[in-house]
Amino acid sequence: MKAYPIADSVFCLHADIDTDDLFEGIWPIPHGVSLNSYLVKGEKIALLDLVRDWFGAPTQLSDELASIGVSFKDIDYLILNHLEPDHTGWLAEFKALNPKVEIISTAKGIELVKSFYKINEGLRAVKTGDTLDLGAGKILHFIETPNVHWPETMMSWEPISGTLFTCDGFGSFGKLGDRVFDDQFSALEHEFFEKESLRYYANIVSSFSVFVERAVKKIEELNVKCVAPSHGIVWRKQPMKIVERYLKYARYMNGPAEKKIAIIWGSMYGNTRKGLDAVIKGIEAEGVPYSIRRVPNEDVSYVLADAYESAGLVLAMPTYEYAMFPPMAYAIDIMKRKHVHGKQVLRIGSWGWVGGAKKEFEAAVEGLKWTCLEMKEWAGAPGESDLVELEAKGRELAKAVKGLT
Ligand code: FEO
Repeated sequence: MKAYPIADSVFCLHADIDTDDLFEGIWPIPHGVSLNSYLVKGEKIALLDLVRDWFGAPTQLSDELASIGVSFKDIDYLILNHLEPDHTGWLAEFKALNPKVEIISTAKGIELVKSFYKINEGLRAVKTGDTLDLGAGKILHFIETPNVHWPETMMSWEPISGTLFTCDGFGSFGKLGDRVFDDQFSALEHEFFEKESLRYYANIVSSFSVFVERAVKKIEELNVKCVAPSHGIVWRKQPMKIVERYLKYARYMNGPAEKKIAIIWGSMYGNTRKGLDAVIKGIEAEGVPYSIRRVPNEDVSYVLADAYESAGLVLAMPTYEYAMFPPMAYAIDIMKRKHVHGKQVLRIGSWGWVGGAKKEFEAAVEGLKWTCLEMKEWAGAPGESDLVELEAKGRELAKAVKGLT
């Protein structure tokens, strides 16, 4: 384990988490996640963001600090850009090792230090415009960026190296291994991290898209040479690439997203799937790209990422006990919570002895600003005329998506 120099006396440290455990207790991370911290050394030493005691993260961090001759006891200031426990879970233990450390965060962050960790001394609240002089020319500047991802969040800026420490902002799922910088990964690896940054955004950040846009406005005057998030790749070669990507994601919330269709389906005995195949035929005839996920077989984390970036949705599920197929009800609920707004939507499905999904669906999607095509339902297996109609519905949805401006 080693520290990665970003510039003179500015280092990236990271703990790779490789676990079956779920991120935030909800989201699968089959390819891991990195918890990045940073060290800035002047005459005094600042550590920016910490870790939780998860998959040996404190030991990983300790080993990386040791590689540059620093121990936890040497840290003068701990800057907490964000208090979510993936970055602070080990705070009480750290403070016990280093009681003299001064913990710096926004006023709301300091309140969370007290409530989560019962630490009441050695705390300093900062706001936008405040600075911390570490000596030897190293000065950290603080910029409040609320709700990227919690209300207390801020970013820290080191102007000599042009490094912006952004915590969750511009982050991604996916562990890093023994490389951290954007110029160290191949095109194929970037493709992987792009998918994982979309999934991270859709799962963690999407509800706060308005605040992402505000945060980007606040940093646009800075001459950023390195974007240093607390999850995923550190962007030193093309720092604005990840910022622009995040802005694009933020705009999916209210503007048209990608001209793609996310198909999400569940079927008990194959009758809804038969109908869906006809819809897919119609979509393919119009040449609109689509993704397809089955619930509950595939985790809602992936469903959410596909739905968030796509302008069109097909939701195919049968009636189950007078209501929606439960895994789809859950997927729609998650979409609602994560602000998957403004989609062109087709819902289809089979029913057995009586319907009911239609009524529940209509109530569930209220407030989502979805433009819903007329639903298509059928009893039991779809007949020939149903299949013709379903194919036409697929075409209609694809045309609506193609026509978006
Ligand atoms: Fe990576 Fe919102 O914590």
